[in-house]
Amino acid sequence: MLKPATLLLASAIAATRACDIPSDTLSNNITEGFAVQVQNASLPVVHNHYLNIWDWGGGDQHLFVSPSGNSTSALTLVDGVLTLPWDPPRRAVINGEYEVKDNTTKMFMTERGDPRAVFEPVYGCNPDTDAVQIELALKSLDTLAEGGNIGVRPFNGIYDFRYTPEGNTAYDPDRPWTKVTLVVVSPEAVTGL
Ligand SMILES: *[C@@H]1O[C@H](CO)[C@@H](O)[C@H](O)[C@H]1NC(C)=O
Ligand SMILES: *[C@@H]1O[C@H](CO)[C@@H](O)[C@H](O)[C@H]1NC(C)=O
Ligand SMILES: *[C@@H]1O[C@H](CO)[C@@H](O)[C@H](O)[C@H]1NC(C)=O
Ligand SMILES: *[C@@H]1O[C@H](CO)[C@@H](O)[C@H](O)[C@H]1NC(C)=O
Repeated sequence: MLKPATLLLASAIAATRACDIPSDTLSNNITEGFAVQVQNASLPVVHNHYLNIWDWGGGDQHLFVSPSGNSTSALTLVDGVLTLPWDPPRRAVINGEYEVKDNTTKMFMTERGDPRAVFEPVYGCNPDTDAVQIELALKSLDTLAEGGNIGVRPFNGIYDFRYTPEGNTAYDPDRPWTKVTLVVVSPEAVTGL
């Protein structure tokens, strides 16, 4: 028999995830420019903000939660890889600034051949409005089957994007890593956050 708490939890999940998920499978190519919205209602300072780029020199663009950096609605998805269609293209990769304390690795954009972050577009329900949305679920780290999650982490009041492998238990209370949902939004839907 289900305990009352379990039933309550189940109905709470049903209430927040009530939108009708389309049954079609999404392509892992999105050719029309989009922005990426960051969602996690438990962290209001980033919830509904955007993935911004920051010219880090050497052709690299580092990624920060808005309002830090420059906003962009020019992102595309090519074979599951977030790509700025510049010349040369900048692709989202997971490499560098590995932190042993919380087992996180930086995600940033580069023209070089670092291991790519490969996403799979999936339908989800907007946690605030319950509208259907397209989320970028991390599928693999380059060709490795290894899954994991993308989250954000504070540094001097700004938040960068960091990967943790699936099942990671390392955690740094001084710089707490928070898992986020990355959502594809059209340029017209971008708000001032
Ligand atoms: C996605 O785009 C890439 C690059 O243009 C292409 O090679 C690939 O076949 C496309 N995949 C699909 C499923 O259309
Ligand atoms: C924002 O973009 C402008 C124009 O390209 C550039 O000069 C500036 O360095 C960028 N700022 C950041 C934080 O990337
Ligand atoms: C850190 O990540 C590696 C995989 O990259 C994993 O094997 C290890 O268990 C993780 N450490 C902790 C403490 O979760
Ligand atoms: C939001 O952050 C909390 C705390 O880290 C985490 O438990 C939860 O899974 C996150 N939610 C989403 C939607 O990523």
